[in-house]
Amino acid sequence: MFSSLAAVASLAILPVALAQSTIDVQVGPSGTLAYVPPSVTAAAGDIIRFTFNPKNHTVTQSSFNEPCVPLPGGASSGFQPVSNVSGLLPTWTFTVANSSSPLWFFCEQTGHCGKGMVFAINAPADPNPHSFSAFQELAEELNGTTTSVATATTPPPQSWASATATVTHAGSTWTTVYTSYDGTPQPTYAASPVDHVITVGEDGLTFTPANISASIGDTVTFQFHPKNHTVTQSSFSNPCVPLAKTSTTGQVGFNSGFNFPVSPNSTDFPTFQITVNDTAPIWGFCEQTGHCEQGMVFSINAVEDGPNNFAAFRQLALNTNPSAAIASGGGSGTTSGSAAGASTSGNAASVGSTPSLLLGLVGGLLALL
Ligand SMILES: *[C@@H]1O[C@H](CO)[C@@H](O)[C@H](O)[C@H]1NC(C)=O
Ligand SMILES: *[C@@H]1O[C@H](CO)[C@@H](O)[C@H](O)[C@H]1NC(C)=O
Ligand SMILES: *[C@@H]1O[C@H](CO)[C@@H](O)[C@H](O)[C@H]1NC(C)=O
Ligand SMILES: *[C@@H]1O[C@H](CO)[C@@H](O)[C@H](O)[C@H]1NC(C)=O
Ligand SMILES: *[C@@H]1O[C@H](CO)[C@@H](O)[C@H](O)[C@H]1NC(C)=O
Ligand SMILES: *[C@@H]1O[C@H](CO)[C@@H](O)[C@H](O)[C@H]1NC(C)=O
Ligand SMILES: *[C@@H]1O[C@H](CO)[C@@H](O)[C@H](O)[C@H]1NC(C)=O
Ligand SMILES: *[C@@H]1O[C@H](CO)[C@@H](O)[C@H](O)[C@H]1NC(C)=O
Repeated sequence: MFSSLAAVASLAILPVALAQSTIDVQVGPSGTLAYVPPSVTAAAGDIIRFTFNPKNHTVTQSSFNEPCVPLPGGASSGFQPVSNVSGLLPTWTFTVANSSSPLWFFCEQTGHCGKGMVFAINAPADPNPHSFSAFQELAEELNGTTTSVATATTPPPQSWASATATVTHAGSTWTTVYTSYDGTPQPTYAASPVDHVITVGEDGLTFTPANISASIGDTVTFQFHPKNHTVTQSSFSNPCVPLAKTSTTGQVGFNSGFNFPVSPNSTDFPTFQITVNDTAPIWGFCEQTGHCEQGMVFSINAVEDGPNNFAAFRQLALNTNPSAAIASGGGSGTTSGSAAGASTSGNAASVGSTPSLLLGLVGGLLALL
């Protein structure tokens, strides 16, 4: 062992070669599926000290080519379950024997490796094909779920049928015709109708939340944030085209039109409201040029366990060629005085009164001036 004086002296002369050190790596800090740092450079004799954060991870050696498969005879910490109440976090150390060959590790917990929870010692830097990022990508490719909807084919259009049902609410009973769709719930009236608020453009080009479930009788209030967005009903198959232009059954669909431009510093967020009269899926988008094609879409009552789920709908929007959307009307306004109202959609939804419409118009004038 070195005396500290000798160590200082050797550091001064040969800082790298002789400095045997301990390198700390956090395993799954803050609940993340990651090693931090994910990749280290170490000399022979260096000690890597892994600290296990809550959850139940491992540090297990693998090969580059099979990132998520234990290396025969390789090192492993074994599972280190840590509850979020424990005080002392367990550690496991690994001593680097040979600094000239890279070493590869992963977490053996189900699903973690496929989500990129891998680690490397002395991996060559990018763009080397055996870099850490190449290793991580390989893990995600081989063991991830890789349900990249982008490569999936367009799901078939939904099959609709009209059905009649008897609905009871607040002591009265009436018969309603509704659109039925595989997987949707029966048309039951909400026990106590709820108003769902969806903000428009508050977090960039998105609806927040973009994907909700609502019962018959519920209302959905769209709250417009700065910029110049619309809330326009479309169909699953043509996410970026107003329903009125694609419907074969004469459905018009709701459309707020470009009546709600909001200036950048405004704290006044005008709203547009629809009433949900059906449990069948409702699809919608923002008609502003380019927004839909960047994923600015929403769904109400999408059937998440079927092929026509919200993610598939959004992916179709992302795949839409903007010029095609514009050619078919997706990018141009259809406002013409329809403010008030915003049209109704046959039996899918109707537009409630919009007391703040005036605010929206005032805001629009301000934005224009
Ligand atoms: C990764 O996939 C391989 C091949 O399917 C499998 O043998 C291995 O157990 C998987 N690893 C993990 C951690 O799921
Ligand atoms: C940790 O995960 C392993 C593998 O999934 C499992 O067998 C073990 O029971 C888990 N331990 C705890 C305490 O959850
Ligand atoms: C531990 O985690 C669980 C699940 O996230 C949580 O319900 C519980 O409140 C946590 N306990 C403490 C003490 O943080
Ligand atoms: C370190 O690894 C290199 C390359 O795999 C090998 O040639 C060398 O013999 C190893 N050195 C030791 C001390 O194991
Ligand atoms: C918005 O607020 C910022 C900072 O308060 C100010 O610099 C900017 O001029 C304002 N923009 C408009 C359009 O009022
Ligand atoms: C949509 O909402 C459902 C239910 O809340 C959820 O399970 C699903 O992950 C969401 N899908 C997307 C793409 O956000
Ligand atoms: C939707 O339901 C509301 C509330 O019951 C009702 O006022 C409206 O007329 C209905 N709209 C359609 C198109 O059925
Ligand atoms: C909002 O966008 C529409 C369509 O791009 C445009 O016609 C309208 O002038 C815009 N309004 C404002 C206030 O910028």
